[in-house]
Amino acid sequence: MYKLVIRPLLFLFPPEFIHNLSFYIIKIICKIPFVTFILKNKFSLNNKSLNKKIFNLNFKNSIGLAAGFDKNALLIKELSLFGFGHIEIGTVTPKPQNGNKKPRLFRLKSDKSLINRMGFNNDGVELIAKRLENSNADCIIGANIGKNKDTLNQDAWKDYLFCFKKLFHLVDYFVVNVSSPNTPGLRKLQNKNLLSDLLNNLQKENKKHKFKKPILLKISPDSSLNEIDDIITVVEKSKINGIVATNTSIDKSILSNSKTFEEGGISGKGIHKKSTEIIKYISKKTNHRLPIIGVGGISDHKTMIEKFNAGASLVQIYTGWIYEGPSLVKRMNKIMVNELSKN
Ligand SMILES: Cc1cc2nc3c(=O)[nH]c(=O)nc-3n(C[C@H](O)[C@H](O)[C@H](O)COP(=O)(O)O)c2cc1C
Repeated sequence: MYKLVIRPLLFLFPPEFIHNLSFYIIKIICKIPFVTFILKNKFSLNNKSLNKKIFNLNFKNSIGLAAGFDKNALLIKELSLFGFGHIEIGTVTPKPQNGNKKPRLFRLKSDKSLINRMGFNNDGVELIAKRLENSNADCIIGANIGKNKDTLNQDAWKDYLFCFKKLFHLVDYFVVNVSSPNTPGLRKLQNKNLLSDLLNNLQKENKKHKFKKPILLKISPDSSLNEIDDIITVVEKSKINGIVATNTSIDKSILSNSKTFEEGGISGKGIHKKSTEIIKYISKKTNHRLPIIGVGGISDHKTMIEKFNAGASLVQIYTGWIYEGPSLVKRMNKIMVNELSKN
């Protein structure tokens, strides 16, 4: 039904317009009595065998919604009805910002991919914190944090720290995003010294609390192996809890069927192989000690299992959900339950 009727209809309109319209529609229909109950029944699968404890957090299942989908924490309660074990909001920056000029999100249909240059459009941490105070999602919530466009890289740690402090009591874990290709110079924060300063400052704040929050670092798929080695060294030294691999890629050669002149980061099927290779590399290099959230191009059960086999402890999806439809998470979890019952 989704692929045959709904998706072709949705794809007649610009992707960002459809994204915002879907948010609006989901918000409205969830106000109708029993709709949340119906959605939960149709799209969620609760089964004890899917439960996972990682970073001392109890995840209902291993599949999460990746950052960027609900940047402003507008819909977390409603999105949790679609069966996700966790939802990562953000990227959140200290001040609100509009992001890049529209259009800034494009479909690459023949590669089941997207290319975006959103540029951290978000409502700012103060407003997002208020929304989180009033939300009661039925899953683990992570906050993906970043810096404002006009903040210099040497001061970037202050932006991350500001967001970390504001959201500390409102989310279950944090992701430090230094890998979006759409904020000029952001990826330079993956360099050893800047990254080390950034993570140490966050850990210093974290240690002030009796119950620390897990902190993960989200990395780019376009880093060289030497750069990844440096990142692993800094991550291990700062004793943060894990890595999210990966963000979108600016490498257009990964596309097999589509040509695009648009600037931005590619997500979806096109980046699956590249990001899986990076997970495999990090997992091996760290003797499988460092928890990894695998994200990039998951579109079905097979691509999800490839991420787990590469060393991921949890996975996230974004683009695959757009192309495959709202029942994808339940379908993948169903197969997981069957596989687990065989062992
Ligand atoms: C439109 C769009 C916006 C995104 N915004 C963010 C963001 O704000 N922060 C972030 O860390 N990742 C962001 N991402 C990257 C996703 O979280 C994810 O890492 C990437 O899309 C690969 O996963 P996928 O192939 O399942 O989409 C965005 C992706 C898309 C498509």
